[in-house]
Amino acid sequence: GNPTLTDTRGRPLHDLRISVTDRCNFRCVYCMPKEVFGRDFAFMERDELLTFEEITRLARVSVAHGVGKIRLTGGEPLLRRGLEDLVAQLAALRTPDGRPIDIALTTNGSALAVKAQALKDAGLRRVTVSLDSLDDATFRAMNDVNFPVAKVLHGIEVASNVGLGPVKVNMVVKRGQNDGDIVAMARHFQGTPVILRFIEFMDVGSSNGWEMGAVVPSSEVIARIDAELPLEEVAPNYTGETSARWRYRDGSGEIGVISSVTQSFCSTCSRARVSTDGKLFTCLFATEGHDLRALLRGGATDDELSAAMASVWRERTDRYSDLRSAKTSELRASGKKKIEMSYIGG
Ligand code: GTP
Ligand code: 5AD
Ligand code: SF4
Ligand code: SF4
Repeated sequence: GNPTLTDTRGRPLHDLRISVTDRCNFRCVYCMPKEVFGRDFAFMERDELLTFEEITRLARVSVAHGVGKIRLTGGEPLLRRGLEDLVAQLAALRTPDGRPIDIALTTNGSALAVKAQALKDAGLRRVTVSLDSLDDATFRAMNDVNFPVAKVLHGIEVASNVGLGPVKVNMVVKRGQNDGDIVAMARHFQGTPVILRFIEFMDVGSSNGWEMGAVVPSSEVIARIDAELPLEEVAPNYTGETSARWRYRDGSGEIGVISSVTQSFCSTCSRARVSTDGKLFTCLFATEGHDLRALLRGGATDDELSAAMASVWRERTDRYSDLRSAKTSELRASGKKKIEMSYIGG
């Protein structure tokens, strides 16, 4: 392994996001709209999914290349049976200088109350829970499966109690849908250890009907909160963090904003993604991935896997969000489709 592996723009590979299932029990309007992900949508067959052993092998090779953080995503990762067994396998990995990996999970929270303890015991460090509103009717409309907000709040509490914290909460803000709840969300988590982050609605995939008019710029989110609960900006925790941090001036906690649309953060992006079926993607907005499963199942050695991963990363040029408007028309003209988030992993 080569811990100083960098891409064409000098960006190291630090963060691996693995989608463990393309399925979800929610149908969030901005992610898996029912018109597209309906009853007869063809999700992946079991034998197409990477096994836990295959995932761990890829993870081990990536750790040798400098990955220090692994995030399990989906779809809804807790729908993958026995996920704690995968966590345990990943928790046994060590960086070249002997440190354990930071293992995190992004979940909709629906099964968190049931699974939190087993995940913690297996070695999971922390969880990020998606929650778009505290208003029950708004939340039910956004997840579009009538899932109650109280159950997610309970999941967050259980996760915090078992030590999977500080829990982060992600709120995707869509104008006209939940932007009226911004300040209420801030108030709810103010004074708790939970770190609430507001995400600009992004044009991921090709089916969520994205339009600029539905994006609430993070500057507006901050202004609306600051008007009632005064804020000041805080330096990032590390280079390449997705979120810009703010704290309440009265010391009652911090929030974040993830502004992929209005303030892109590609210049420091150190994230690679592995899709449910083992393709390596070097951008959330990619149209094509590199088939690592074919190598895994074709008998490749660890050295061969390692070389394949390194060459993909070395050649990486991605900076979709920096070039969004140009890329949007280019993609439209070429007829290529961006990969859906549930498959590539949030
Ligand atoms: P920590 O900083 O370790 O807590 O994690 P994170 O912020 O990398 O992970 P999280 O899954 O919480 O990411 C938050 C959200 O930011 C994701 O759900 C995406 O919506 C968005 N996001 C994450 N990575 C990228 C990226 O590389 N590009 C873009 N455009 N958006 C991203
Ligand atoms: N724009 C912004 N965030 C999104 N997410 C899913 N789809 C989108 C989108 N189109 C968020 C989810 C979750 C994380 C995995 O990504 O709400 O928090
Ligand atoms: Fe499921 Fe998360 Fe997508 Fe919502 S955002 S549909 S919870 S994968
Ligand atoms: Fe990274 Fe692509 Fe997101 Fe830019 S758009 S931050 S390159 S994943």
